[in-house]
Amino acid sequence: MTHRPTARPPAARTGPTRRGLLGWFAGVAGVGVAGSALAGCSSGPAARGDATTAVSATSSKVDFHGAHQAGIATPAQDRLHFAAFDLLTTDKAAVVAMLRAWSDAAARMSDGRPVDASYDAPVLDPAAAPGDTGEADGLNAARLTITIGFGRSMFTKLGLTDRLPPGLVELPAFPGERLDARRSDGDIAIQACADDPQVAVHAIRNLVRLSRGTASLRWSQLGFGRTSSNSSSQATPRNLFGFKDGTANLRAEDPAAFDRSVWVAPDEAGSPAWMAGGSYLVARRIRMLLEVWDRTSLGEQEQVIGRHRLSGAPLGAAAENDPIRLAALPADSHVRLAHPDTNGGAAMVRRGYSFVDENDSLGRLDAGLFFLAYVRDPRTQFVPIMQKLAQNDAMNEYLSHVGSGLWAVPPGVQPGGYWGSGLFA
Ligand code: HEM
Repeated sequence: MTHRPTARPPAARTGPTRRGLLGWFAGVAGVGVAGSALAGCSSGPAARGDATTAVSATSSKVDFHGAHQAGIATPAQDRLHFAAFDLLTTDKAAVVAMLRAWSDAAARMSDGRPVDASYDAPVLDPAAAPGDTGEADGLNAARLTITIGFGRSMFTKLGLTDRLPPGLVELPAFPGERLDARRSDGDIAIQACADDPQVAVHAIRNLVRLSRGTASLRWSQLGFGRTSSNSSSQATPRNLFGFKDGTANLRAEDPAAFDRSVWVAPDEAGSPAWMAGGSYLVARRIRMLLEVWDRTSLGEQEQVIGRHRLSGAPLGAAAENDPIRLAALPADSHVRLAHPDTNGGAAMVRRGYSFVDENDSLGRLDAGLFFLAYVRDPRTQFVPIMQKLAQNDAMNEYLSHVGSGLWAVPPGVQPGGYWGSGLFA
């Protein structure tokens, strides 16, 4: 095992760093962190260096930097921790300082490193709170992505309404929704996705820690079991209704579709330059009335969705990826109403997760779909489709929308830069 040197003061940690632990696990337990560098894992700083090299050789990391933020076209990970923050200040400089600190921390965590470089030191200062909360020590990056969005309220609070992107509208009230303010909106939203729940939670927890004094957590949501695939390398998962979800989603392998439907173009009409390469994020916390659904016949369930439950095939077809014949689907079925062909070609990339939180006094689960979608312009994509679904979808009998939010997602960060640098420049 990798030990820190015995040190004075006596409170020096005897445990290894996050990277050191990874090397230890790989060397001792033979976990799949490739590289012969780990085979002879020895003690001391040199061993930690070896482990870092080995981790780089795995596919557990998604690059934080790039033209677009990670976590949108990235093949959906298994777990989610989503957080919405409210600013406690109207001081732009303080917000920029937080965004810088967040971006540095996000880049390090996406790389499988502790939040703060001080945590790499062989001996930690016993008189100071450690620079990382520690629960991800020994875990790899688990394809962690951290994606940020700015809410309309942030622009108002910081006096930035002249830079408001046109798609960041006030969402209209949709028929039937029962929104809870404690689960809606927020000046800033952060989506942390990873294949390991502890890595996603560690990311949000540390960003909350770094926001102290500048922002406070407004609400948060844990998610499991991704409810969409957005890459042809992924099998289609099932949502809590038992249906395959994500069959007709946009695919990362089709960048032209992302250009059409997800990324804001450099010459987007009426859009400020800082949004080029960005997107818009919509979240809806949708409670699914599972107890009612579970008493519904299979035939009725399939008529509601417009697809067969076991195979995922569109009604009237045999296999999941067979073409949809919309005329063969009930007029109020979810798929027929949401399909691009009935919405003037409008599409979105869906990236939602299931949730099961508590239960109510009647013993019914507070469970459902935490719907997440990214669009190029909510006014022509999410809003009209949601409007139509809220009015006509046969699935509404089994749903209740209880939380909602819309955020402008700035483009990706370049090395040395920070989230929203174009907006605050
Ligand atoms: C709890 C709520 C929801 C459930 C259980 C659900 C479930 C499903 C299922 C099973 C499919 C078919 C498989 C697929 O192609 O992915 C589907 C498709 C789709 N859903 Fe939902 N959905 C929900 C909410 C929403 C919302 C709120 C929207 C947008 C406002 C939406 C938009 C879509 C779209 C665009 C498709 C693809 C249609 C196509 O192109 O064939 N869904 N959904």
